[in-house]
Amino acid sequence: MHIYTDPKELQRQCLFWRREGLRVGLVPTMGYFHAGHLALMDCARKQCDRLVVTLFVNPVQFGAGEDLDKYPHDFDGDKDKAESKKVDALFVPMSRDMYAPDHATWVEVPELATHLCGASRPIHFRGVCTVVAKLFMLTQPNVAVFGQKDWQQLAIIRRMVRDLDIPVEIVGHEIVREADGLALSSRNTYLTEEERAAAPAIRQGLLKLADKVRGGERDADKAAAFLAEEYARTLPMGRPDYITLVDPDGIRPVKAIEGPVLAAVAIQMGKARLIDNILIEV
Ligand code: PAF
Repeated sequence: MHIYTDPKELQRQCLFWRREGLRVGLVPTMGYFHAGHLALMDCARKQCDRLVVTLFVNPVQFGAGEDLDKYPHDFDGDKDKAESKKVDALFVPMSRDMYAPDHATWVEVPELATHLCGASRPIHFRGVCTVVAKLFMLTQPNVAVFGQKDWQQLAIIRRMVRDLDIPVEIVGHEIVREADGLALSSRNTYLTEEERAAAPAIRQGLLKLADKVRGGERDADKAAAFLAEEYARTLPMGRPDYITLVDPDGIRPVKAIEGPVLAAVAIQMGKARLIDNILIEV
């Protein structure tokens, strides 16, 4: 595995691979790898000849007061894990090499960024789209794999790729969970023991909500209120940022449930803001 820090050097290598007719796969990450990241790497590995993993805590997707400075990191551990997954190139750039002091170009998909996480993190998805577009230009991937835990991010990236005719196939990978149902996240490390013990209630509530909708509930507001009550009972230490049912592609809140619907939640548990979702087919 080769470690690249210089964006242009990585780009030269990826352009060379593409000229040689090799299929390049990309897994963009912010590091602190857990089994979820490793599953994305396995998934990409199966679909490409050369696997590039990027490890960059992208400052422009963090708002003031968010956890940019505290974001967990373990470069040596990540390097070993990437090596074990037969990653060909691990890209670990410095922020100053990704963003010139007079960086002035932004990519955004505001229509899909209004609700869910976009409501409380107004600059987040602009930062995500901009860095992902840059990573696509640098690595020239045939295929890129993202986790479905960040469903809104995945929907936004799909829309960006469609609208800008970026020649990359986007693959969404199912959420990887702990045995007790908690979705894996680098931010789970912020949880205290007590919060960690309570956190599986997030998934349990979503499963109950899905049962309710499958059982005939068609009023999205009532379904969301049901889940809010459920959390008030089972997760009193959690502070919901949102509990919303949206259409899975356009990320717009739905009123009447008439087709597939995504129930998405963000719950503040102490220092950790945890997100999870469930796609409900009716
Ligand atoms: O999902 C993430 O880890 C980040 O948002 C991403 C896609 C690597 C962009 O910084």
